[in-house]
This record gives sequence, C-alpha cells and structure tokens, in this order.
Amino acid sequence: MHAQDAGELAPLDAYDERAHQEAMSRARPIPRISIQAFCELPETAEVVQIAAEDRRLAKAHVSVHMGGVPAGVAHYQESPTPNLILIESSLPRQELLGELDRLAECCDAGTKVVVVGHYNDVLLYRELLKRGVSEYLVAPIVPLQMMESISNLYNDPESDPVGNVVAFVGAKGGVGSSTICHNISWIISETLQSDVVIADLDLAFGTTSLDFNQDPVQGIAEALSSPERLDEVLLDRLLTKCTERLSIFAAPVMLDRDYDLSADACDMVIDVVRQNVPFVMVDLPHTWTSWTKRLLLSADEVVITATPDLANLRNAKNIVDLVRQSRSNDGPPKLIINMAGTPKRQEIPVKEFCQHLDLQAAAIIEYDAETFSNASANGRMIEEVSAKAKCVPTLRSAAMLLANRHEAPMPTKKSGASAALAPLFAKLKLKR
Ligand SMILES: Nc1ncnc2c1ncn2[C@@H]1O[C@H](COP(=O)(O)OP(=O)(O)O)[C@@H](O)[C@H]1O
Ligand SMILES: [Mg+2]
Repeated sequence: MHAQDAGELAPLDAYDERAHQEAMSRARPIPRISIQAFCELPETAEVVQIAAEDRRLAKAHVSVHMGGVPAGVAHYQESPTPNLILIESSLPRQELLGELDRLAECCDAGTKVVVVGHYNDVLLYRELLKRGVSEYLVAPIVPLQMMESISNLYNDPESDPVGNVVAFVGAKGGVGSSTICHNISWIISETLQSDVVIADLDLAFGTTSLDFNQDPVQGIAEALSSPERLDEVLLDRLLTKCTERLSIFAAPVMLDRDYDLSADACDMVIDVVRQNVPFVMVDLPHTWTSWTKRLLLSADEVVITATPDLANLRNAKNIVDLVRQSRSNDGPPKLIINMAGTPKRQEIPVKEFCQHLDLQAAAIIEYDAETFSNASANGRMIEEVSAKAKCVPTLRSAAMLLANRHEAPMPTKKSGASAALAPLFAKLKLKR
C-alpha cells in the first residue's frame, strides 16, 4: 500500500497469491542502508529475518530486536537511528499513535519508519501517513511483502522500476546458452519495444558481437576495470547498438590479459546497467568462480540451458539445487532443454530429465543444425533468417515468460522412461 492510495483504500486483506507473484516481480534490490526492526511477535521477527537473508537485502544491514515500540524508544535514547526503522505494535489507534510520538522524539531526521500493526484501520493509516510514517502493514506479513514495501521506499514505484536482470547459464559448455540468450533478448526488444542490454560476461570467448555481426572497440571490460567510474554517459559510450532497442555490452575476446574479476565489480556494473535499462540479459560463461556464482544468485531470473544427457543432468541438478536453496523467496529457475533429438545421440527422455530436476521445462528446442548454423554464419537472429523455423514460436513464448508476460509453461514431451539409464541415475544419486 502506498501513500498515493490513501484516497481509495484497497481492503487490507490477507496477502494473496496474486499479490505474492506481483511482489516477486516488483521487489527490487535494496541499497546499502541500515534497517533495525523492533518486533512484538516472534512470527514477525522471523519474517524480517527471512527477508534479511534474501538476495534483495544482501547489501542492507539488518538487525532484528524484540520488544516493539518501547524497546525501540529505549534503544534510540542511547543510539543514533538507522536509515529505516521497522516497528511492530499490536496497540489500537490512539495508544499506537501515542507510542509513535514518543519514538519520533528520539528519531533523527531522515530516518524512515515502517509500522507493522494489528488493526486493519484506515483512519490509523491516514494518521500515520500524516505523521510521516512511510508505510503501514497489517500483520501477519510475509517476507516478499516486506521487501516490496522497503523496495518501494528506495526505488520510486511511480517511475519505471529498475531493470530486470536475467542470468543465462549453460549446464555444460556449448549447449546453446548464449544463442538462446541472444535470441530471447532480441525477441523481447522487438516484441515489447523495450530496451534490452546483453552483458557478455564470457570475456575471453564470448560470441555476442559475432552473433549480432558487430565489431566493437570497447565494451564491458572497460567498465569492469573501473566500475566506480561507470555512469549513464560512460555506459552509453561503451554499449554497442545492434538495433533501435537492443544493445550489447561486448566482451573483449582477447587473450592478452586475464579475467580474474571481482564479484563486487560485476555487481556495480550490472547495477548501473539495470538503473538505465529495463532488461539486462547476462550471458554467463560456463565457469564457476566467485563472480559467476554471485551474478547467478543475485539475478532476478535464472535461465539454465541444458541438453538432455547425463552430464547436463548432473550439472543442471547441482545448479537448480543451489539456486533453490539460496533463493527461497524466488520462483525456481527456468529450464530450457536445447538440442533435443540430436541425431544418433543417446538421450535422456525430456520428461525424465525434468522429473529429476523437479522442474517443468520453460521451452524444449529441437536440434536443428541448418537453422542455427545459418543464423550464426550470417550474424543474424533465427527469426530474421528463418521466420518459419520450428523453434521460433518456442523461443517467443520463452521470451514472454521471462519478460513476465505470463504464459503457461510448455508441457513436457511425452516419452517412455528409459530403464537402461536407471543404473546411471543411481550412480549420480539422483532420486526420482
Ligand atoms: N538447437 C540447436 N540446434 C543446433 N545447433 C544449435 C542449437 N542451439 C545452439 N546451437 C549451436 O551450438 C553452438 C554453441 O552454442 P552457444 O550458444 O555458443 O553455446 P554456449 O553458450 O552454451 O556455450 C552454436 O554454434 C549454436 O549455433
Ligand atoms: Mg556461451
């Protein structure tokens, strides 16, 4: 709920599933601020704690205390106030306002206050806004709702939200992760008429400029070498424009230097891009370093491309498990099965592959050497050179899914289970 809604208040009902989905796509990373919470109920403290461990609050410093408003008042008589105080009170309107006035007396100017109350009370809400409280949430709250509210205080919800970062990773090298990243990015830029930047982080071997038939002189390496200098103007100079809406942040693809990046530098660069562009598509190399891991786990969406064989399954499973485990407030990663039906190759049936990962495929793309090599030899996108190719509608629907234009995921292909592979699954300890 925002201040602007005060005129026509939506019912402060339980936080439903739809709102949850929306918050997931709206809640954005929160800057390096300090947040202190004073809760009354252990359930509320737990929610704050869960949010504090989320990727969106990774930069913020959060501390959680019990004791509600009185504990806060006592604390701030001794200590300076943080950027944001989150305070819970189960008191009714008059008593709560009285307590908050006491809190206000020891609050430094510039400290924002979010109140979690137990009364669904419109008059109380209006009184709180008048007194400068930034937000009133009615308990019980859920972590995403809290993150969304804080995110709205620091990322203006009235202006365009900052960009969506989508990280593309292959379960193995050469599975088509970059090709899919580039095609999906192009489709989003063309279909939604939205600005898209592809950040090619495969610094030594990236193919983004080849795929778009560009020969950039500068690119992402310049930004990464001095990330603190990167601003809107410099970004504009370092990007290579491929179409009206699509630009690439090109990899140098030179081996005269090495690329031991720092995770912080990557973070800073992606942050600047997302402040300026609604879709940031990160094309990750198939390597595992502190910075690839950080980029993957901090993205808004993760797309794993895999071909249906055993090594891909093992690697995809490891990535999916890690992503699920460290991003408990996010949806699962999106799985793209690529090069299905490669001639003469032993494959794991797609249905089984997906079952092992406990994921539905967002897209299943068949092996099609003619179409893919034709596009890449010409430095064009698939739809530009083969508009009728079978993979075009599949890529389109995956692109819309990623852009949050909700569409049903593709049904997994029906195929018989392969008993022959059972011993191999067992070897990898993959449970069905
Ligand atoms: N479905 C497909 N059928 C045939 N070839 C494909 C398919 N998808 C990708 N390719 C080709 O596979 C090669 C490797 O793709 P790339 O995107 O560079 O993989 P990665 O980024 O995972 O290493 C490229 O030459 C690409 O054109
Ligand atoms: Mg690649």
